[in-house]
Parts: sequence; structure tokens; C-alpha cells
Amino acid sequence: MSNHFYKSPLLPDPLLGCEGEKILTAEQWQQIRRPEILELFHEHVYGRAPLQRPQYLRFITVDKGEGWMGGKAVRKKIDIGYEGPGGNGVIHLYLFVPAQAIRPVPTFLLICNREAENMDPDREVQSPFWPAEHIVSRGYAAAVFHVEDLDPDKHDGFKNGVHGIFDPPEVPRPKDAWGTLAAWAWGASRVMDYLETDPDIDDKSVALVGHSRGGKTALWCGAQDERFAMVVSNDSGCGGAAITRCKKGETINNINERFPHWFCENYKSFNGRENELPIDQHMLLSLIAPRLLYVASASEDTWADPDSEFLACTHAERVYNLLGLKGLETLDMPAPECPLHQGSIGYHLRTGKHDLTLFDWNCFMDYADRHMKEARL
Ligand code: GCU
Repeated sequence: MSNHFYKSPLLPDPLLGCEGEKILTAEQWQQIRRPEILELFHEHVYGRAPLQRPQYLRFITVDKGEGWMGGKAVRKKIDIGYEGPGGNGVIHLYLFVPAQAIRPVPTFLLICNREAENMDPDREVQSPFWPAEHIVSRGYAAAVFHVEDLDPDKHDGFKNGVHGIFDPPEVPRPKDAWGTLAAWAWGASRVMDYLETDPDIDDKSVALVGHSRGGKTALWCGAQDERFAMVVSNDSGCGGAAITRCKKGETINNINERFPHWFCENYKSFNGRENELPIDQHMLLSLIAPRLLYVASASEDTWADPDSEFLACTHAERVYNLLGLKGLETLDMPAPECPLHQGSIGYHLRTGKHDLTLFDWNCFMDYADRHMKEARL
């Protein structure tokens, strides 16, 4: 891994407003610059959701039982039903709450984008992708939902899922209309709507976790929805935590060709023109401030590009500093398995391939153990 100084591209400045004004105070950040940056990501990258909480949103506890995980957990299955002009849908939320813990408990919510077996609510399959037993044993509630409950991961002309349900019938579809990642992010916020109502859950201490396309989604959700106390991006790469200018591995052109449904139409106009984007991904990360941000990379994941993921964290740090918080506190990529857990931005590089492993989860929880309680006060 290289020291980023030798390859740092010229990046848009998160602390320079659209009118050319310098952002010098926390108030200017919150009032002026944060909304500007959010708007730029809506317009050019992820697209705009036509609504936040829908008028019809129902939470139904379909099952609640003790005695799970050898008596260590209570399992809840919650159906989060939503309805719009074009039909209705359901997010199936699975939740394991530690039985002995003092309530309300801090929670890890995973956006699952892998095969549904990875989140088996009956725990016959215990995948490291969602190590619910392990999360519970460390005193956190483990929550998960699947992205397909919001929108299928294929280019269907935005007919199915939440697009078909909520989109106004405008033809042609606006170039800043929400893509699939924004649809999934919308779903994570609806899960938060439920978590706020559950007395077992400390809704001020919820960490949102996503891997890869799920990591891009976690960042976009956390950027908009300030109810999440911590946002974790694992191996999210292009359109996630990685700076796109001078990025190795996947480019904007690659991602838009293979996944034309993920982003808004406007993003395609930046194929091969990364330098013309008014933003870069360090600015997405900066929108998480002052909340906790955690970025993880894997050494063999050259498609996502660990250097560019780390670089984005170092550049998001200026916003954390403006808000009186520490970021990574170094410009040097750490060695594998040597997490940086000092400040309000956490980072680790793991040896190995593109994946979400128990090592990654343990790092997220070590970091949350250290910072989530103090951040809440
Ligand atoms: C593809 C895609 C990436 C994405 C990854 C994943 O490799 O190009 O952008 O992050 O799938 O979701 O696993």
C-alpha cells in the first residue's frame, strides 16, 4: 500500500461553499455547506427519493420468542409494511436482542445484499456475514433486512419494488430520480422508523453496516438520515467510500455499464469524466460527521481500491476537525490487522479478499465499545 501523498489527486474542497465562501465554523457547515453537498449527491450521484416516511407504514410483530441462542437471545420478526399509489411492499426485519442485557441495548443493523441464507432467522446457517450469535454475545442487538424487500438488484426499468410503488408517473423519468442504491437506503431508514418504536432498542446507538453495494447504501443512508449514530462501510469501493478521481480498479464507467440501475441517470454523464464531478466521495463521508464513521478495506480487494478508500477518510477528517472532533490522526495507511480506532473516524485494512468477515465485525464492535457510549452523551 502506498503513502497517499504520492498519488493524491486534486479534490473538491468540502469546506469551500458553492458561492466560493470559506466554511469556517460548525454553524456554517451545518447551515450552508452540509445541505449543499447533500444536494449535489442527490442531483449527480444517487438520485432523489420522492418521499421519506410514507403515510402508510405499519409495524407488525409476526413472531417474538425467548430461548434463542441457548437462552441468550430473544428473537423478533417484524414486518414493516409500506404502501403507495403503485402498490405495497414489506421489509422483513429479523432482530435478536440479548436476553440478559440492560435495556435499551445498542444495535448493529446490517443491510444484507448477499443470498438470504446469510441472514437465516432460524440460525441453521450461521454465516460470518451476519454473525448474530457473536453480536449478541458482545451485548448488542443484531438486526438485519434484505435489500430485495425494497428493490430487485437488476435493471427492470424501475418497474418493480419501491420505484413502481412511489414514483410519480413522469415520462421520461427525471435524470435525478432515485436509483436502486437510494431505494435500499430508503429501506434502512424505514427500519430506523421501526427501531425508534421498540423499547428494547437504544435508537440513539444504532450502527448501520453494509458490505460492498450494501456499504455504498449504508453511506448514502447515513449521510441523509442523522438518526444513525454510526455508519460502517465495508469494502464499498466505487460510489462508496473510495475517491473516484484517479481510482484504481472499478471506475464510474465500469459501474454504470454493469449496474445501470444503481445510481441516477445524471451519474452516467460522468463516465470517464471523474474530474468534472462537483463532489468526490470524501464529501459523502464528511456528511456522516459529527457521528461515528467506520471504513474497512481488504488488501486483495483491488477492484474497490483500499488506497482510495483510505484517502477519502483522510480528506473527510477536515470536517470532523472543524466540528471539534478527531479523525484518523494519520495520513499513512495502517498495516493490515492494525485498526485505527482513536478518533471519530475508524479504519482498518484486513488481509484477504472482498468479503465481510468475523474479523471485520470484531473491529466494528471494538470501535463501538470504545466510542458509541461517549458519542451518545
Ligand atoms: C461488483 C461491483 C462493485 C460492488 C460489488 C459487490 O464487484 O462492481 O461495485 O461493490 O459488486 O457488491 O460485491
